Amino acid sequence: MFYSFSFTLQLLLTLISFPLFSTTKNLPSKNMEPFELETLFKIMEALSSDQDWRISYPNPCQPGSSWPGIECKFTPTDNHFHVTRLDFGTPPNPSCHKSATFPSQIFHLPNLESIFIFQCFTQNPTTISLPPNMPLTSPLQQLSLRSNSALVGKIPPQISSLKSLQIITLSQNRLTGQIPVEIFTLTYLVHIDLSYNTLTGTIPIELGHLEKLVGLDLSYNNLTGPIPSTIGEVKALQKLDLSSNSLSGKIPDTIGKLHSLVFLALSNNRLHGNFPGGLTGLQNLQYFLMDDNPMFVPLPLEFGQLKKLQELRLSNSGYSGTIPSAYSQLTNLSSISLQNNRLSGQIPTGFANLSRVYHMNLSWNFLDGVVPFNSSFLKRLGRNLDLSGNPGLCLSPSDVNGVNVGVGVCGNSKTSSLMKPLKKSGAPLLQCSFNLLYLVNVALVFLTLHCRLCFS
Ligand SMILES: *[C@@H]1O[C@H](CO)[C@@H](O)[C@H](O)[C@H]1NC(C)=O
Ligand SMILES: *[C@@H]1O[C@H](CO)[C@@H](O)[C@H](O)[C@H]1NC(C)=O
Ligand SMILES: *[C@@H]1O[C@H](CO)[C@@H](O)[C@H](O)[C@H]1NC(C)=O
Ligand SMILES: *[C@@H]1O[C@H](CO)[C@@H](O)[C@H](O)[C@H]1NC(C)=O
Ligand SMILES: *[C@@H]1O[C@H](CO)[C@@H](O)[C@H](O)[C@H]1NC(C)=O
Repeated sequence: MFYSFSFTLQLLLTLISFPLFSTTKNLPSKNMEPFELETLFKIMEALSSDQDWRISYPNPCQPGSSWPGIECKFTPTDNHFHVTRLDFGTPPNPSCHKSATFPSQIFHLPNLESIFIFQCFTQNPTTISLPPNMPLTSPLQQLSLRSNSALVGKIPPQISSLKSLQIITLSQNRLTGQIPVEIFTLTYLVHIDLSYNTLTGTIPIELGHLEKLVGLDLSYNNLTGPIPSTIGEVKALQKLDLSSNSLSGKIPDTIGKLHSLVFLALSNNRLHGNFPGGLTGLQNLQYFLMDDNPMFVPLPLEFGQLKKLQELRLSNSGYSGTIPSAYSQLTNLSSISLQNNRLSGQIPTGFANLSRVYHMNLSWNFLDGVVPFNSSFLKRLGRNLDLSGNPGLCLSPSDVNGVNVGVGVCGNSKTSSLMKPLKKSGAPLLQCSFNLLYLVNVALVFLTLHCRLCFS
């Protein structure tokens, strides 16, 4: 039995290796360096139980015998195949076993350019670790570790030894601690996504060193402190998402230097105070998302000059005064959200000219007067127009036509209470704003509702 088994095995091995040896005279023996092959198998064993990788894929870089999720490149100078890309976690790529842990040997693969590990570390808490004897030059350009609920601990500062990195994606893990400043020495970086972790501390001022950075997403973390003014030096930036942190202070004036910025999200922070005058520099901005901040200032006129704006979200932030009529110049605006503020006065008549708008929420403010929209406008927006919670607003009877935007008809006695001039309730309003200013913004929604009650 044993003899026959070992004989068969030997025969099998001979058969496998035979074509390689037989071709050496004419063609190069296109296999891998033993060290690289062994490292690769160790990584596969640490991550995946899909196969017995050594037996199923004895030569994983050989065209025709490689598994999905691996890419290799033949290097004529050394006559060998080298792994350039590894992709784990999503079919058809190899899936990970429950006890998979981070394979630090992965950084020893000498030609690896891209790593993708998605939904892989889910049970055994594991950390991103780099081996102590890192190669001096790493060609790794993309490190993407995403949706790994058991990937914990800090982002190691040694990540800065991966000098060729262009893309770092570490979103939806359980990473903690501060963003290591060392990351910002990686001057080839084009994209950083650290969203959906529980990173703490401040955004390092060293961020300004990244001249090539196009996308920065730090949303859904626990970052505190101000937005550093060095942000203005990241000139190539097109997408900046800092939403859902605890950032405080003013938006720095230098933000206006980001002439390439298309997407800016600052929602759900503790930002407050006046908008910087530099805002008008954002001439390519299409999305400005800044709900849920304790701003307590008038709406800035400057937005009216950002002609490319398509979406403007400024809800739930204590804005007061009137809606600037300059916003009517935003001809490409498709969505505007100003609900849950303390805006007063009339809806600018020019809003009726916003021909691309399909969503408009002005609910829960102190707007008054006749709604300036005709029946075709009301019909076009339908349920995407919300004007409710503005007791002073009414619709011209000729425009109503069965629409429900949360507003009564002008002059209708049943809704006459809606027409009461708001000025009467000036005193309680003041009282409320006093309270609002001195209480934490977390309670903003509830306070706003409460204010409504106290003068209604
Ligand atoms: C992060 O912030 C969230 C929401 O503010 C909070 O529930 C959580 O405890 C914070 N976590 C850490 C690690 O600070
Ligand atoms: C508005 O959008 C259209 C179509 O997307 C685009 O061609 C045009 O340049 C935009 N206008 C402005 C002022 O950005
Ligand atoms: C709306 O557009 C029309 C036609 O372009 C223009 O005549 C009118 O002045 C505009 N209304 C406002 C309030 O901007
Ligand atoms: C409604 O207003 C728009 C914009 O001012 C105008 O183009 C359109 O002709 C009006 N429609 C009706 C039915 O009055
Ligand atoms: C408008 O905002 C209010 C308050 O946040 C919300 O309840 C409502 O669903 C929104 N309406 C639309 C059409 O977006």
